[in-house]
Amino acid sequence: MNYIFPNLKAHSQNSDKLTSSIYSLIDKLKKHRILSETELCFILDNISLKEIPYLYKASFVVKEKYYQNRVYLRGIIEISNYCKQGCFYCGINSQNQKIERYRLSQSEILAACRIGYDLGYRTFVIQGGEDTYYTDQLMVEIIKEIKVKCADVAITLSLGEKSKESYQKLFDAGADRYLLRHEAASRRLYETIHPKYMFYDTRRECLSNLKEIGYQVGAGFMVGLPTQTNDDLVEDLLYVKSLEPHMVGIGPYLCHEDTPLRGSKSGTLQETLVMVALTRLLLPKVLLPSTTALGSLDPMGREMALEAGANVLMPNISPTENRILYEIYPDKICITDTSGQCRNCIENRIIARGHVVDLSRGDHFDIEKKLKS
Ligand code: 5AD
Ligand code: FES
Repeated sequence: MNYIFPNLKAHSQNSDKLTSSIYSLIDKLKKHRILSETELCFILDNISLKEIPYLYKASFVVKEKYYQNRVYLRGIIEISNYCKQGCFYCGINSQNQKIERYRLSQSEILAACRIGYDLGYRTFVIQGGEDTYYTDQLMVEIIKEIKVKCADVAITLSLGEKSKESYQKLFDAGADRYLLRHEAASRRLYETIHPKYMFYDTRRECLSNLKEIGYQVGAGFMVGLPTQTNDDLVEDLLYVKSLEPHMVGIGPYLCHEDTPLRGSKSGTLQETLVMVALTRLLLPKVLLPSTTALGSLDPMGREMALEAGANVLMPNISPTENRILYEIYPDKICITDTSGQCRNCIENRIIARGHVVDLSRGDHFDIEKKLKS
């Protein structure tokens, strides 16, 4: 069962009166950057395809004010599909015995960075399952080596939950940003999609520790999870509004058959884009990736996200032979492509839609301003 966005699915024709109520809430949100829980819920409960262009336009205009038509690129390296965690939705969770596991060595990671650097990327996202092989000491070495060999890059880590001390060590070694999606702000939903040994409060604590240390932080959530309701999604919106992360990664939930959630329904493109657009209106300066999951769901998904207010793309720079094994969800794009092919593909897609590629570090608006002054 899927409980979210009843009117988006039904091709329902909202009355003009309902449409104008939704438009005025969008206007109010654009102006004040906040709505009440009831008002946000009203939008989710009632929005139909009729109101969608208005919402995306509003979000796009807000994005343009701060970032114009620039799209930031980050090269993502998927360093390991070993994971000690057991998230019910994720294809690389520790219970999945069907996948072949891999991890990249320090020199393989460095080689991927070198290729990425030569392709022009100035942010690397180092992502992996929670793999204890990468001790703090090893990660510190890797971060330092990247910073020596590619001095002007920003390093983003996406390696899951760690102690505050570990986060601090990696930050001191030179890591600039950390992505840790909160996955679901509703405690009920979080506990439904995670095993008992994963804690909602720990996730939240990790995010506040990362902020305290001084990372540029990315939170984020999935749309269309089994049992997710509009109230849950409103909790996600209000949580990111209160946390004020620098980035918010929003992607559709895509059902993977080798997980405990097998057989469930996936999220849809429009549901996800509505959440992207609303997040932009709540946090005008936030960095919003147009996620690979959206590109996997629909051939034009990533382009559509750019039109709904996203401003970041993360092309893959992992070695091609490993890509197929990093299957967190099915039918992931780019698994047979090289880093060079993704680089060209992305650039063409961005230009075709009238945006421009920005290969700078791509910091959050406020941080860029601070660095310049
Ligand atoms: N569908 C969509 N996104 C997923 N993720 C993990 N599994 C899935 C899935 N089946 C997302 C999680 C995680 C990020 C790296 O990928 O939000 O934080
Ligand atoms: Fe990888 Fe298009 S981005 S092939």
